[in-house]
Amino acid sequence: MALWGGRFSQAADQRFKQFNDSLRFDYRLAEQDITGSIAWSKALVTVNVLTNEEQQQLESALNELLAEVRANPEQILQSDAEDIHSWVEGKLIDKVGALGKKLHTGRSRNDQVATDLKLWCKEQVAVLLEATHELQSALVATAEANQDAVMPGYTHLQRAQPVTFAHWCLAYVEMLARDESRLQDALKRMDVSPLGCGALAGTAYEIDRQQLAGWLGFASATRNSLDTVSDRDHVLELLSDASIGMVHLSRFAEDLIFFNTGEAGFLELSDKVTSGSSLMPQKKNPDALELIRGKCGRVQGALTGMMMTLKGLPLAYNKDIQEDKEGLFDALDTWLDCLHMSVLVLDGIQVKRPRCQEAAEQGYANSTELADYLVAKGVPFREAHHIVGETVVEAIKQGVALEALTLAQLQQFSAVIEDDVYPILSLQSCLDKRNAQGGVSPQQVAFAIGEAQKRLG
Ligand code: ARG
Repeated sequence: MALWGGRFSQAADQRFKQFNDSLRFDYRLAEQDITGSIAWSKALVTVNVLTNEEQQQLESALNELLAEVRANPEQILQSDAEDIHSWVEGKLIDKVGALGKKLHTGRSRNDQVATDLKLWCKEQVAVLLEATHELQSALVATAEANQDAVMPGYTHLQRAQPVTFAHWCLAYVEMLARDESRLQDALKRMDVSPLGCGALAGTAYEIDRQQLAGWLGFASATRNSLDTVSDRDHVLELLSDASIGMVHLSRFAEDLIFFNTGEAGFLELSDKVTSGSSLMPQKKNPDALELIRGKCGRVQGALTGMMMTLKGLPLAYNKDIQEDKEGLFDALDTWLDCLHMSVLVLDGIQVKRPRCQEAAEQGYANSTELADYLVAKGVPFREAHHIVGETVVEAIKQGVALEALTLAQLQQFSAVIEDDVYPILSLQSCLDKRNAQGGVSPQQVAFAIGEAQKRLG
């Protein structure tokens, strides 16, 4: 039965009911709705709407319902209740009869749904933080195992300077650390309880909302009822966090897809996260990574969708706001899945060191080294840059690496070049020299791994 029959003499059109009802997606808020209801029943005792005995009866019925919901959440979907709030109230009335009808005193579904969703968001942030943490740990472990795997680093997808696979892993650790801190930040702002704001103007019962907030585990209660029932900033923030996090994962996926190509051949993905072709027997496709890259799109879509839903909405609650949940649930589920899948991908990765090294040696990734060498011999950098450019053209013409040119050949470009140039051109020297904080030197990378391990515990 609907919660609002008295004013109506005609039943809702079935098609409208289907269009309007939110139970099929907000059933996921069942636990939060019950938790919020228990807290509200306690608040009603403080304003003498319920006696202690009545409250205890309601609380134990609600706890019973909570256990039923936990055991079988899908059962909720069998009901034709309008939304999760009507469902919980209906079930409560089934259990305790008329007493159940007192629970909604002084409360509105508007402050109720805002509370339920914030409670859900807070729990989900904890889950996402854990998954973000787990992926960082997996990346650090992969870095640790691949400190000596030299490979080309790219700008413009052109070989630029040598890096190590470990350094590449640590770049993503940094992105994920920022994702983590964004979530923690959002958590602080959403930790404010909406309950007791009523439909829009506040509740008519003199409830201590700070105490009520505390019972629900919120740091405090909101300050303005009009804002509270229509505020979905926390949804926007989490969707933004998810969007940024998914952008990071899509870049991670794209890098690995490229490293895994026949053309690069820097690594091989495990059979556990790849799939074959129905036609071409030789194929082993990086589907897990492609899906991570692809799913980024729907998460950005959810953020844009919610922005547009909230844009220009008049105060206070409007039914438009019911559109907050499906996109949010989907976006956060997707992000979580992709975080987990990324761990699985890393788990089976096989770095092909000889091939990585070979690629790093080709492509003139040590050209900057030669320029720096000339600078050390007193040539101004701009001039050195030009000289090395010409030297590279010659090496390309001969089809060899810079270090394969003879001393006489090198000296044609600059008389200051001597025998001591060769060790400078080695990959190891390229890495070793980049020893300022954040650089790719083995010492810096080992330090960064240690710091990350300390932070991640
Ligand atoms: N299903 C609604 C939502 O998700 C709950 C609030 C309904 N409030 C109302 N006055 N109709 O937003």
